[in-house]
Amino acid sequence: MDALRIRGTGKPLQGNVRISGAKNAALPILCATLLSDGASRLRNVPRLRDIETTAALLRFLGRDVKVDAPEVHVAAGSQVRPEAPYELVKQMRASVLVLGPLVARFGRAKVSLPGGCAIGARPIDQHLKGLEAMGCTIRLERGYVMAEGPGGGGRLKGAEVYFDLPTVTGTENLMMAAALAKGRTTLVNCAREPEVEELGRILNKMGAEVNGAGTDVIHIVGAERGELAPFDHAIIPDRIEAGTYMVAAAIIEGGDVLVEGAELRDLEALATKMRAAGVEITSEGQNVRVKRTGPLRGVNVTTAPHPGFPTDMQAQFLALMCVARGESVISETIFENRFMHVPELQRMGASVALRGNTAVVQGVQKLYGAAVMATDLRASASLIIAGIAAAGDETEVRRVYHLDRGYERIEEKLHGLGVDVERVKGAEA
Ligand code: EPZ
Repeated sequence: MDALRIRGTGKPLQGNVRISGAKNAALPILCATLLSDGASRLRNVPRLRDIETTAALLRFLGRDVKVDAPEVHVAAGSQVRPEAPYELVKQMRASVLVLGPLVARFGRAKVSLPGGCAIGARPIDQHLKGLEAMGCTIRLERGYVMAEGPGGGGRLKGAEVYFDLPTVTGTENLMMAAALAKGRTTLVNCAREPEVEELGRILNKMGAEVNGAGTDVIHIVGAERGELAPFDHAIIPDRIEAGTYMVAAAIIEGGDVLVEGAELRDLEALATKMRAAGVEITSEGQNVRVKRTGPLRGVNVTTAPHPGFPTDMQAQFLALMCVARGESVISETIFENRFMHVPELQRMGASVALRGNTAVVQGVQKLYGAAVMATDLRASASLIIAGIAAAGDETEVRRVYHLDRGYERIEEKLHGLGVDVERVKGAEA
């Protein structure tokens, strides 16, 4: 397995970094291509393992897919096999996003239950509840969801669906199902993430009628003609990649980084907390400038559904608080096990006390390099940020395949900001 080796030079990050397209927008949009047999083109798609995994899944379902990053071309193949096998779904939970489009378009689907992952149980009960409200029969058999439209594979019907809690992929799955259901669907208590809003744009480009995507109530009128039109679209920038580089820019005093292509309006909760910690965050056209001009102050953070503080930025921000002055209390309310980066940070000298879903951080003067292990995508990023802060020391972050799922060309981008980082092939796991 590969590792990333970071040498803490003590020098602040300076320069420009360009943000790639949003992974969590590209994934549902790729699945939306199942709603049309035409040739669709996605642009500004990041070169990531999750994109390749989704392409492999679409090919298994019978689509012709050409990944030529930053473009992906998808069209109908010679046949359709509405089945997503465990071997593919276990690699990436977001594969569950084929369920809605398959059952809406082809009347049936057999999709492996995604199973849990490192950060939590990750159930999909809300996805299934919504599909049942739309007339779908759902059976769980030997780890698979067997879904069938009304009357043994007929067309879904519009419904009122109330989510018990905001779920990003749950909202996206039901938007895609409703786009071909008969009549009107109203989704209430929806996730409001920018990636949900982007999917709404795509479905409207494809000829569906979607209103309210990005708010907590979404109205959809299903298209009558049984399939949607293909589309050509450039994906929005990745706000979590942008936030990760914003935090990295602030980890050493003197940091001055222009994050190119970052939309500050999608990162207001993070920017507010970084400013409270003493970091200068300003918008420069389509870019965000981050300047670390003085000491960091500890601030408290509680993760929440968008537009609250993103759970996907919790690990990175916690690493920043490890070198801030004073105490910060960080509460994780979205996932039940998203502090696995803490024991690794403690091995680097961080002072963090875990109490259930809360981490109490006491800032320290210095972090020390160590061999540490990545456990999930965002935890990996927090360990790299800590390695940058460990001046004069070397940190080896192992199992960086987690990182490769969500950060395109990360060594190259960090090099561009003055970070001494290299990939170590075949390092010890
Ligand atoms: C999406 O996951 C993102 N993934 C995650 O990013 C992100 O952390 C998460 O939203 C929260 O913002 C993609 O968009 C591909 P949820 P998702 O459904 O949709 C519970 C990354 O790093 N829940 O919004 O799977 C669930 O257990 C990934 O790119 C149910 O109880 O998350 C969790 O506690 C990690 N029943 C909460 O809701 C359901 O049916 C939010 O989960 C669905 C969810």
